[in-house]
Amino acid sequence: TPKFAVFASGSGSNFQAIHDAVKAGKVPGQAVLVVTDKPDAFVVERAKKVGIKTLAIKPSSFSSKQAYEQAVLDKLSELKVEWIILAGYMRLIGDVLLGAYPNRIINIHPSLLPSFPGKDAIGQAMEHGVKVTGVTVHYVDAGMDTGPILAQAAVEVVSGNREKTEERIHAVEHELYTKTLQQLWSR
Ligand code: GAR
Repeated sequence: TPKFAVFASGSGSNFQAIHDAVKAGKVPGQAVLVVTDKPDAFVVERAKKVGIKTLAIKPSSFSSKQAYEQAVLDKLSELKVEWIILAGYMRLIGDVLLGAYPNRIINIHPSLLPSFPGKDAIGQAMEHGVKVTGVTVHYVDAGMDTGPILAQAAVEVVSGNREKTEERIHAVEHELYTKTLQQLWSR
């Protein structure tokens, strides 16, 4: 079973969903570390609660992005992490991690890419007035939400209601991410 690390910057509901699916025997992997660039993020509490190690270091305390990623990479290597799963990690992955994990970094994004890449994809979709948006799981490359797509699911916008739309998207994310990892690691 592949060892993976989850990278997150926020609430960590996707981390929780993946962790729960692993525990339930639905995803054939082993979560060994949560990495966050935001030491105050709620994902840290979630990880502690379920007994998974956390690495919470601020990129701003390093002299460069390379130095920050090297510190993360040292920990990943120590724990023999094979896959990096981004779940609300709001930072572009740089050359150090891309070089160490070629085709082994996966991301989830709350839109039907290539529409609405980058920050606040749900806000962008509402602003544009689309009736259908969705969720994308994709391989990570050097671009912003540009790597090869693994899976997508559509979600209908609840017109004028961001909160309800977001709820729908999150529910679909949890389902799609676990299903995709299950397929990826079962072949
Ligand atoms: C998720 O909706 C995820 O798709 C999004 O951040 C949220 C994190 O929620 N990611 C991006 O926007 C990446 N560009 P979570 O912390 O509850 O999993």
